[in-house]
Amino acid sequence: MTKRLENKIALVTGAAQGIGAAIAHQFEEQGATVWRTDLQQIPGERTRQKDSASEDDWKSLLAEIKETSGGLDILVNNAGIELECPLEEVTLDSWRKVMSVNVDGVFLGCKLATDMLADRKSGLASVINISSVAGIIGFPFQPSYNTSKGAVRHLSKTLAIEWGASKKPIRCNSIHPGCIDTQMLREASIKWQDHGLLPDGDRMAAMSGLCPLGTVGAPDDIAHGAVYLASDESRFVTGIELIIDGGFVAQ
Ligand SMILES: NC(=O)c1ccc[n+]([C@@H]2O[C@H](COP(=O)([O-])OP(=O)(O)OC[C@H]3O[C@@H](n4cnc5c(N)ncnc54)[C@H](O)[C@@H]3O)[C@@H](O)[C@H]2O)c1
Repeated sequence: MTKRLENKIALVTGAAQGIGAAIAHQFEEQGATVWRTDLQQIPGERTRQKDSASEDDWKSLLAEIKETSGGLDILVNNAGIELECPLEEVTLDSWRKVMSVNVDGVFLGCKLATDMLADRKSGLASVINISSVAGIIGFPFQPSYNTSKGAVRHLSKTLAIEWGASKKPIRCNSIHPGCIDTQMLREASIKWQDHGLLPDGDRMAAMSGLCPLGTVGAPDDIAHGAVYLASDESRFVTGIELIIDGGFVAQ
């Protein structure tokens, strides 16, 4: 049976752990050749150490992919950081740090990979930007993160339209995870409890209680959506926001 991503070359940023690792793994299971990058260097892992907020790192990485794999079909801008605190405690430096990874990184990936993604004989390339439910609805005590994720949502829609208008064969969609059990969520849950947003006691149980399906999600729940958006099954899908959140924003 043909695999869903057979003969496709994919790049996933922030792929050392969590959602990015799950996406990279599922892409490979579906037959893609996957390039993984992350700020962290994990011994024995195939992940290349690259800062997705660095223009130089993007340029050297894309040149290597071109040289080795000959092109790129799928780009997943997944790397992200969250620095939780109320507005009064947000410094200009911490604001810029969040924007540099969560927004500049996505912008650089989309901009610098456009030519490679568009350079194809048939079919459409797919860009998937990982935003958040926080890019759609407000949450207290994380103004920089929410703002950055709103920007990712809007950039994705803009590029979907712009690439369509300029006849570039690239689709662009955003994914909006809800509460997904990763290191980022576990660290955020400590601060949420400190701010009184979660009751005392087991934080992950309390998080699960916030979701209509009664549980937090797993990284694989997001990866399943990414496989669909990366594959040709979604060839008529661009500019959408795929919410995968156990019903969180439906409330
Ligand atoms: N976990 C959730 O509940 C949740 C919800 C909504 C959105 N998201 C988004 O999903 C994405 C993945 O998050 P996660 O939960 O897997 O987090 P995570 O912290 O477990 O993993 C993020 C990875 O990104 C890497 N990274 C951070 N800065 C980087 C940089 N400058 N360059 C390259 N790599 C960098 C980290 O080293 C880490 O391996 C993020 O964009 C996050 O905002 C997560």
